[in-house]
Amino acid sequence: MTPTLPQPRVLDPASVPALRWGVIGTGISGNFVKALHSHTVQRAVAVAARDAAKTQAFAGEHGIGAVYPDASALIARSDIDVVYIATPHPLHHDLTLEAIAAGKHVLVEKPIAMSAAEADEMTAAGRAAGVLVMEAMWTRYLPQSDIIRQVLADGLLGEVHLVRADFGFSMPFLPEHRMWSAALGGGALLDAGVYPISFVSSVIGPPSSVTANGAMTSTGVDARADLLLPTAGGATGLASTSMVTAMPVTAEILGRQGRLQVLSPFFAPSGITLTTGSLGAEDSVTWTDETMTLHEGMSCQATAFAAYVAEGRVESEVHGHAEVVSVMATIDEARRQVAAIGHVLA
Ligand SMILES: NC(=O)c1ccc[n+]([C@@H]2O[C@H](COP(=O)([O-])OP(=O)(O)OC[C@H]3O[C@@H](n4cnc5c(N)ncnc54)[C@H](OP(=O)(O)O)[C@@H]3O)[C@@H](O)[C@H]2O)c1
Repeated sequence: MTPTLPQPRVLDPASVPALRWGVIGTGISGNFVKALHSHTVQRAVAVAARDAAKTQAFAGEHGIGAVYPDASALIARSDIDVVYIATPHPLHHDLTLEAIAAGKHVLVEKPIAMSAAEADEMTAAGRAAGVLVMEAMWTRYLPQSDIIRQVLADGLLGEVHLVRADFGFSMPFLPEHRMWSAALGGGALLDAGVYPISFVSSVIGPPSSVTANGAMTSTGVDARADLLLPTAGGATGLASTSMVTAMPVTAEILGRQGRLQVLSPFFAPSGITLTTGSLGAEDSVTWTDETMTLHEGMSCQATAFAAYVAEGRVESEVHGHAEVVSVMATIDEARRQVAAIGHVLA
């Protein structure tokens, strides 16, 4: 019998308050602001970055009225509700604490920080100040993620035994690029690995142990890592990441009664195939997200963010602080193990 997939419960972007956003950084934030302005009622009203010409051009392209050469001036503005931090990861901690101290809600790009200790401090500070602090793990807010939550809650897969996810790509050796630079928080685990590790966590929870194999770059950051993440309940998580390997960028959840595959790239609007039945007599159904292009999916987290602010929440309903910190702890341990193995790519 062909299985059926639940419909995603999509929040109407017009049903949440229109917040005023201050944007720090002009890299990926271009995609974010485009998604914000085309798919939500949220508005970016100020941008800060060091390169004046680039920041001015960014403001012009996105219709942003105010440009600042440094983040502190933007954070100090009294008419900004939310600060969106999209700088290299080592700056996330201090900028978040500064924004919280100024009474702002904060959406911080992934990874939220460089370590679990930093993430813990940031989320605790937000909680104490009564502001919302959220990691921009945009995958969690996509329609497909709501379908997955319903599939799991309804028990359509039966007991889940194995969750597997990967995000890797082969990029050229660019020693100055933030991905290759230790000073700029480089490495596959922090940048890309956070997605598959977070996916595994979203399904089976935190691991009871972390075992990582991988290799370092000649610049002293992790080039690739494969993680074995068992849980206390007996499930297995497998997460792979790399900046030197072409990977399929898929995720799957395998259970006693069926399996769910998230199409590539699993972290963005893509689709889902649910397969049930026994070997040789399997039936599948596929749902694909035709509503958004890849980065337009970043809009969903902004609408959810505004809804949480309206509800007075200090953490995400689908990606709470404890989980954000736990994923960072997994990354901490994997980075430590890969460095200790000491295999350096030629
Ligand atoms: N959600 C996603 O799909 C996604 C995709 C890519 C990246 N990210 C995350 O977003 C973050 C930024 O990545 P990216 O790819 O955008 O990096 P990027 O292209 O290097 O851009 C970083 C931005 O930060 C600005 N910046 C650096 N230092 C600054 C400072 N002290 N004050 C203010 N602005 C500063 C830079 O501009 P100036 O040099 O002019 O200051 C630049 O605009 C990372 O944490 C990354 O993991 C998320």
